[in-house]
Amino acid sequence: MTATDEPLQLRSIRSFVKRSGRITTGQIKARAEIGGDFLIDYAPTLLDMQEAFKASPNPSAPVVLEIGFGMGEATAAIAQTLNQTNFLCCEVHDPGVGALLKRIGESNLQNIRIIQHDAVQVLEHMIAPASLEGVHIFFPDPWHKKKHNKRRLIQPPFIEALMSRVRVGGYVHCATDWEAYAVQMLEVLSGAKGLQNSSEVTSEVTSEVTSEVTSGEAKGYSVKPHYRPLTKFENRGLKLGHGVWDLVFKKIF
Ligand SMILES: C[S@@+](CC[C@H](N)C(=O)[O-])C[C@H]1O[C@@H](n2cnc3c(N)ncnc32)[C@H](O)[C@@H]1O
Repeated sequence: MTATDEPLQLRSIRSFVKRSGRITTGQIKARAEIGGDFLIDYAPTLLDMQEAFKASPNPSAPVVLEIGFGMGEATAAIAQTLNQTNFLCCEVHDPGVGALLKRIGESNLQNIRIIQHDAVQVLEHMIAPASLEGVHIFFPDPWHKKKHNKRRLIQPPFIEALMSRVRVGGYVHCATDWEAYAVQMLEVLSGAKGLQNSSEVTSEVTSEVTSEVTSGEAKGYSVKPHYRPLTKFENRGLKLGHGVWDLVFKKIF
């Protein structure tokens, strides 16, 4: 039984490998000192959002789910910029979770909660239908090799399940620097029921900027929304001439 009872085939998507990595003393300290306030345990039962964010400035603020926040650099910056939104953030990587907790403590961010677990299972079991304002998936693992492409997150069954948890009027925002994955994202999101590509709505205004930011065909991709900061990793890629593709789709029914 799932949150929406749809026949999900999501368990076949294993979109990460659990990497080991150095955990710093700062991260250990942050986890010990504030982990209890900001970490939510995975459980196969629906999450009460108001309860999860009851200590945030606005417990009933719209909730954005972020999948795979890495070291949490963008997450923390976005939570500061969009301070009227609550952020539920999933990551499996220990140092990443520690790093985001450290940033939360340093910047006194109250509108973030973290679930250290596979986001596919979190989505399937913990997120109620139409309970999210949006979803952020920035630079998901591209799984370059053809035999590994099936491990990519952005695939039709996952997007269908994901968007069932987003309210009508809400959005999904993906970004990648891997062109073949950008193409796949565009195909999957364009083919999903009830989604409208925001770049088509704003293309007259934005096409010039879009073609500067992205490489190759700009059609269908969005200008980087103001709230998403350039990360160190992304900046390095841009300097090397790599493209970056943002995709923003709105749920219209
Ligand atoms: C390439 S990194 C990008 C990190 C970050 N978004 C950024 O832009 O720097 C992808 C991250 O997604 C995480 N990830 C992949 N699949 C996941 C899943 N199913 N649930 C939670 N995290 C996942 C990985 O652990 C990894 O840290």
